[in-house]
Amino acid sequence: MRIAISTGGGDCPGLNAVIRGAVRTAVAKYGWSVFGIEDGLQGLLRPEPLRPLTPASVRGILPRGGTILGTTNRGNPFGVASGELGQEDIPGKMIARLEAEGIDAVIFVGGDGTQTIAQRFRERGLKVVGVPKTIDNDLDATDYTFGFDTAVGIAMEAVDRLHTTAESHDRVMVLEVMGRHAGWIALHAGISGGAHVILLPEIPYSFDAVLAKIRERQRNGLSFSVVVVSEGAYPAGEAPSFRSHPGKSTNARLGGAAEQLVERIERETDFEARATVLGHIQRGGSPSHFDRLLGTRFGYHAVELAAAQKFGRMVCLRGTEIGDVDLLDAMGQNKQVDPHGQICSAARAIGICLGD
Ligand code: F6P
Repeated sequence: MRIAISTGGGDCPGLNAVIRGAVRTAVAKYGWSVFGIEDGLQGLLRPEPLRPLTPASVRGILPRGGTILGTTNRGNPFGVASGELGQEDIPGKMIARLEAEGIDAVIFVGGDGTQTIAQRFRERGLKVVGVPKTIDNDLDATDYTFGFDTAVGIAMEAVDRLHTTAESHDRVMVLEVMGRHAGWIALHAGISGGAHVILLPEIPYSFDAVLAKIRERQRNGLSFSVVVVSEGAYPAGEAPSFRSHPGKSTNARLGGAAEQLVERIERETDFEARATVLGHIQRGGSPSHFDRLLGTRFGYHAVELAAAQKFGRMVCLRGTEIGDVDLLDAMGQNKQVDPHGQICSAARAIGICLGD
């Protein structure tokens, strides 16, 4: 067989582990040829040849962040982006290119948007296999996605570091972490880093509750606090804070959750407060051991699905085992933090304020 790999959406630590795992399995176990599509699917529209991927060309990429193939979250060939290029049938052009290159199947590595694109190609007759990816860990079809563990590790270290400034200056330090619709990064990093307040998109927060926690600590002789806030968290009765609105081919960008909270703390109390926005630091750099291992296992299983002719499916992690689900069952199914689940209960029991 000749297979191609595409990485789409935001970059994520562990993407290269998937590529390496898939290439090594396909070549060593099955003797297939593997090609990389550059920049999401954009490489299919360019004259340059697809990039041959061999065990030699993927050597040394395991510790590297990002994706050696490049990626884009603006390249939906079924979306407005194709309209921008006129009335051309962009997906049809891409399929024709794959046929011309003799590609039998494509492995789509990406988040919900990418898996939806994979399903649309499947409906047009392409043989596809999905590999889920997001640092947000908010896909319901898999217990974990690679990238999440690395992001939480980076955010946890930031919480550790903010403690020292908070304590030295008697300040309220507010850390904003990623998490568009789900607060998994904030929850895991906040608990692991010993934050005093954690605010999630799933629990619209009461400013009074946040303040009560900070004041309770002050009464106990602790005049500092560390708050972790998801970029998608917002006060009850209000809306999330956006930096920009959706463009023709871009998502709305969240931003300002920490700044909003700091402004209010300083306006309504005598506490000194500072905001830190971790941003893309969370997505950059070398993947953790967990993400390298999960990426490698996903890459291997994606090739096994292709070898078994089980197309239209996405690999997933259930407990400790890799399984697979129909792409139709994976699309648009978000996994959010349960405000009354075990992790939130543990957080509350040890005195963390979740904003309610
Ligand atoms: O979905 C992953 C994610 O990192 C979100 O947590 C964040 O809101 C978004 O991507 C940022 O996207 P971009 O890199 O386009 O700014």
